[in-house]
Amino acid sequence: MLYLLDTADLAAIRRYYDLYPIAGVTTNPTIIAREKTEFLPRIREIRSIIGEKAMLHVQVLSKVADKIVAEAEYLNEKLGGNLYIKIPAIPEGIKAMKILKEKGIKTTATAIFTPQQALMAAVAGAEFVAPYVNRLDNICADGVSVVREIVQLLGTYQLPAKVLAASFKSVEQVHKVSLCGGQAITASPEILDALLKHPLTEASVEQFVQDWEKVYGEGKVTTDLS
Ligand code: E4P
Repeated sequence: MLYLLDTADLAAIRRYYDLYPIAGVTTNPTIIAREKTEFLPRIREIRSIIGEKAMLHVQVLSKVADKIVAEAEYLNEKLGGNLYIKIPAIPEGIKAMKILKEKGIKTTATAIFTPQQALMAAVAGAEFVAPYVNRLDNICADGVSVVREIVQLLGTYQLPAKVLAASFKSVEQVHKVSLCGGQAITASPEILDALLKHPLTEASVEQFVQDWEKVYGEGKVTTDLS
């Protein structure tokens, strides 16, 4: 499982990159706009925090293939590193994915709501396909089933693309995506924290410390003892 952070908040990226085994950062135009700051400097700051090797997914805004390709080449030239250009799985986006594959620029097909969108993007050469789980659940569709079918299709046709499941609002959604073999997820810091949270874990840790301190003294840890 690859865990990615779906945010452009620098403090959160610093904190969660330090805490968790994070493979990279994803952004989208909404996430960037929320920061109300300059675009390229913010993306460069994210890159400086996560390093050149981590994945950084940055989305284009154009809706026509040659303009999408121009944005991708611009971002690739300005940012470099392990960069993935996020392109919506619209017809012109699929065309751009084919062109960018030829040019050696990596792409992530985004705004995916059906298995067939993902399959077409994977055949066009996208490295990742990003189904939006919660947005599907919100319309009374089944986001996890869509992910499951995408995983199945990529396997059936032996395509190298990976699923980067996105748009999560609950631990249950992440858990079910993991069970059906989604190779990567991108989630907010809050969701990543929620994956680890359990009152019994917290109570157990407290109990261990209390039992230990009764014998070895308050604040003592193993390195304080010979
Ligand atoms: C990532 O690729 C998506 O842009 C993002 O996860 C969407 O999440 P949301 O549905 O919470 O906006």
